[in-house]
Formats: sequence, structure tokens, C-alpha cells
Amino acid sequence: MAVKKYQTHHGMHDLLPDEIATWQKLESIIHDVADRHHFKEIRTPILEPTELIARGIGQLTDIVSKEMFSFERGEDQYVLRPEGTAPVARAYVQHSLHQRGGSQKLFYIGPFFRAERPQKGRQRQFHQFGAELIGSPDPMADIEIISFMMDIYNEIGLTDTSLKLNSVGNPESRKQYKEALQDYFRPHLNEMSEISQNRFETNPMRILDSKEKEDQPIIENAPKIADYLTPESQAHFDKVQRYLDQLGIPYELDSRLVRGLDYYTETAFELISDQIGSQDALGGGGRYDLLIEEVGGPSTPAVGFACGIERLLLAAEAANLQLGTSAPLDVYIVTRGEKAREWALNNLSTFRSKRLRTTMNFDGKSMKAQMKDADRNAARYCVIVGDDELETDRFTLRDMSSSEEQPYTFEDLIHTVANSK
Ligand code: HAM
Repeated sequence: MAVKKYQTHHGMHDLLPDEIATWQKLESIIHDVADRHHFKEIRTPILEPTELIARGIGQLTDIVSKEMFSFERGEDQYVLRPEGTAPVARAYVQHSLHQRGGSQKLFYIGPFFRAERPQKGRQRQFHQFGAELIGSPDPMADIEIISFMMDIYNEIGLTDTSLKLNSVGNPESRKQYKEALQDYFRPHLNEMSEISQNRFETNPMRILDSKEKEDQPIIENAPKIADYLTPESQAHFDKVQRYLDQLGIPYELDSRLVRGLDYYTETAFELISDQIGSQDALGGGGRYDLLIEEVGGPSTPAVGFACGIERLLLAAEAANLQLGTSAPLDVYIVTRGEKAREWALNNLSTFRSKRLRTTMNFDGKSMKAQMKDADRNAARYCVIVGDDELETDRFTLRDMSSSEEQPYTFEDLIHTVANSK
């Protein structure tokens, strides 16, 4: 009976060696830009308490109501983290990071999980990089977060993006606005989509985010949050815009931008690409001044962003940007006979200690097959070793680009290859 072949789950992907150079390059750019902005890396567990996520991002969000991978074990409820902000807020509270004085500037890179319907730019396991600046209510902190995000895209050369900006106000602004929205939508409810009807009572602001066709003409004329901001929220939002103008960071105001997580207050933003299909948000974020308290900490203002790595790579591909190439192999030791293989095994470390990427053939193939293998691996040099070479200390060094071959003593050969880098 044939043994079943297993596959990854729908929406979850292997990252094969050909793709790794690109990922590593991107990760190194993120680390570099983070370093310059003085953000420190934080790594939190992949599994979090379900209640933290439900409280943190909101029971009524799509994520909590239908997209979590969760399970029970004994008394405990686990969830594969769907995002990074609630976990970072938990870590901030758990380790009393507020006692370290000043605001904390944290960043992360890693896998996240949402049981969404997979499509281009949307997976069930995806990767984000993100940052959280915790402890400052100042609009300048919003700018530090936005400029960190933009600098990563600038560094990569992905500039064909648009930054959408809105304010979702403080709870007081939102209370007034929600009532105004409900008053406005109520007489149209029968003509609206089922999803929007469901959101009417619980979260009328999310109706603005509807993609359903029948909702569009109604949403078009809905009241705008800008008209309901309290003077404090308006002042905060004005400053954010003024600072962005001063820094020359272009943005577009978008009164329909509401975000899909419930913790936002004041500033909300998204970075959009029109090159990657319908899942066009490269990233998003905003202020979440109430979240830390919501998960058991002291009242602490905060702001952050997160971006999808897969979507960034789709955009880079669309823009023909090559992010990273894998480093070439320096030396492939081609052997003839068992003695030579043993010699090669013993001497790999001599090359490697000179920082030369070196390998040999591990499955006893013919010399011809070994040369082919060296070629496939884009080796710069082959060292050809047989019984004669070992006896006379004369090794053939083959330059794979010119096909030139030269004899060397082992010592000279190492020296020549090491100096050719
Ligand atoms: P989010 O908008 O839910 O925000 O996700 C941020 C980004 O992650 C999205 O713009 C998208 O690029 C990527 N993303 C989300 N879901 C998927 C998916 N299923 N497949 C592929 N990519 C996806 C947050 O997660 C917030 N924690 C951001 C934040 C940080 N707000 C404040 N601090």
C-alpha cells in the first residue's frame, strides 16, 4: 500500500532554500533600520492565552470571532498569535517594563496565524515585522513609528506606495460618532449587506470598511469622523499631519480608514500598494492608548505598526527589485577514490577556517557528476583530488568561470583561493 504523501495545511507555506536569501536580506535591512532608530528587538511566544488576544484586540473583530487557531490543553486555552501588539503589551505589563523609565521602543519579526480564506497576499501563516513605541502620548511618537516603517520601504527602494491616514479619535469622539453613524445608517439598513447589518449594533464604524457593493453608495455619504473629533483629538491629529508635512512624508487623508482591530485610538494609518492585487495593505497601525490598561497594566499610551513580509515581497517582485542573492560556493572538492574522499572530509575545515564556503560530494558520485554538481552550485573553484595528488602534494585548482586549471601545493592553493575573495 502506498504511503500517504503529506502536504502543508492550506494557506501555509514552506520557505525553500532559493527564497531564503531574499528573506535574510530583508530581515537584515529591518534590523539595520531598527538599529538606526534605536528600536530593540523583542521575541514573544508563538502561543498566547486566548483571553489576552480576545480582550486585547476585541471579541467582535473578525480575527477573534472566526479566524483564531486555538486549542485547549488541561485548564489552559492557547491561541496561535494572530498579531503582535497584544503580546507585546502583555510582555510590557508582565515584566513591568514601565519601571525602566522613559518610553520603550520595541520591534519584532516573526510568524503570525489567522484562519482566513487564503488568496494572493493572504495566508494562514504569514510573517510580519512591526514596532511598538510604548509610553508616550506625544504625536511625535506617532511620527517616529511612521518614519521607521517608511524608512524600511525606502531602504528597499519600494517607494510606489501610498500612506493613508485617519484619526479614529478618543473614546469620547467615537461615542458621538457611533451615534451619528447609527442615526445615518438606520433608515438604509434594509438595503445594506448582511455583514453591515450585523455590524450596525456592535461596531458601526466597521461598516465603513465594507467591500460589499450594495453598501458603497450609502457609505459614500456617511458622516465623517473628522466632524466629531474632540478638540484634544483634533489637536493631536493636526500635529501628526504638520510633522509629516515638515518631514516631507506624503500621505492621503482617508476618513473611511477604520482598521480591523478594536484597540485603536486617535491616529490610524495604512500603507497601500496598487501593485499586489486586492489584498493591498502592505502594513498598518496607529495609536492604542487604552490597550495596556485593558490587559492589566497601568494607563500607558502607545503607538505602533506592523507590515506583512509576503506582501512586501510581492510588491518588490512587481517593482522588479532583487532583494538578495545567495552567496556563491567558494570551493567544491572533487575526489577520485576512497582515500581522496577521506582526505577531503578531513580537510573541509582547513578551507572553512579561512571563511571559504566549502563542500564536497557526500554520495560517492563519479568525478563527472561531481563537476556537474559543482557547476549547479555555482562554485567558484573546484579542487581536484586523487591518490596521485595526495602523494605528490600537487592539487589541481580549476577556476570554474574560465575553466583554467593550475597545479598548486596544498598550502599555496589555500592561500590563492582565500586571497581571491
Ligand atoms: P493588521 O493590519 O492586522 O495590523 O496587520 C498588519 C499587516 O500584516 C497587514 O497590513 C498585512 O500586510 C499583514 N497581514 C495581516 N494578515 C495577513 C494574512 N492573513 N496574510 C498575509 N499578510 C497579512 C496588526 O497586526 C497590528 N498588530 C498592527 C499594529 C501594531 N498596530 C499597532 N501596533
